Amino acid sequence: DDHEWRAPSATDVRSPCPGLNTLANHGYLPRNGKNISIPMMLDAALEGFNLGPDSIIQAAKFGLLSGDAPTTLDLDALALHSLIEHDASLSRGDFALGDNLHFNETIFSTLANSNPGVDYYNASSASLVQNQRLAISLATNPNITNTLKEIEIRTRESGFYLSVMGDPLTGVAPKKFVQIFFREERLPIAEGWRRPNVTITVATLGTIADIMSTLSNWTATQECEDLVLGP
Ligand code: HEM
Ligand code: MG
Repeated sequence: DDHEWRAPSATDVRSPCPGLNTLANHGYLPRNGKNISIPMMLDAALEGFNLGPDSIIQAAKFGLLSGDAPTTLDLDALALHSLIEHDASLSRGDFALGDNLHFNETIFSTLANSNPGVDYYNASSASLVQNQRLAISLATNPNITNTLKEIEIRTRESGFYLSVMGDPLTGVAPKKFVQIFFREERLPIAEGWRRPNVTITVATLGTIADIMSTLSNWTATQECEDLVLGP
């Protein structure tokens, strides 16, 4: 298989998700970013990141609601606000402020500059970054949506970057790898990254999320109804 990194062409589509985009840029997902089924996403996540299906199956299923095709999605459609896409992202602007799809270095600088003095990010630094990004959005976006749904998705996503670019068991990830993942949507193989040898699961992500929650000062901006997500 050809899994070298290639930048997307002018007609290839990409998403607000650095994980799916990286998988497409390496050919684990179709490089055009189109007509992607749930099994294709689950297989690509396992092959590319050693990320098991349990932590992405819900997102993958929700993702189908982003378009009209019965069993597939196109990556760009995942920018649909409030399906999965949310405010106070780590690397993209808020929907109401313009562009919620493309990487934004100004937004990303909060994460990039976090955990000063050491060369890694971890669950503690990720939690502080989450607080800071939310504070910035609360101060600048009068239309912010910030409910239990958003904090749960955001915490899962922080666990994703720590786990796929670092050690899924400790949540420690080299800054250099995380920055390449976000900025270039590339696997930093040339820089020394290796696919985690532990499968990333709901359980490993839960350990990271528990550490994050001890430092979280999160409160809801709006209330939402409980979501029924499965049987
Ligand atoms: C956002 C990682 C799978 C849809 C994110 C973010 C990360 C991430 C780190 C946060 C980006 C930011 O805050 O700027 C991953 C990894 C995956 C994965 C490593 C493993 C394959 C999926 C799947 C879906 C999905 C299966 C749905 C089909 C999204 C969307 C966002 C997102 C829509 C944008 C949320 C936002 O920041 O507003 N992902 N993801 N991701 N992901 Fe994924
Ligand atoms: Mg967003």
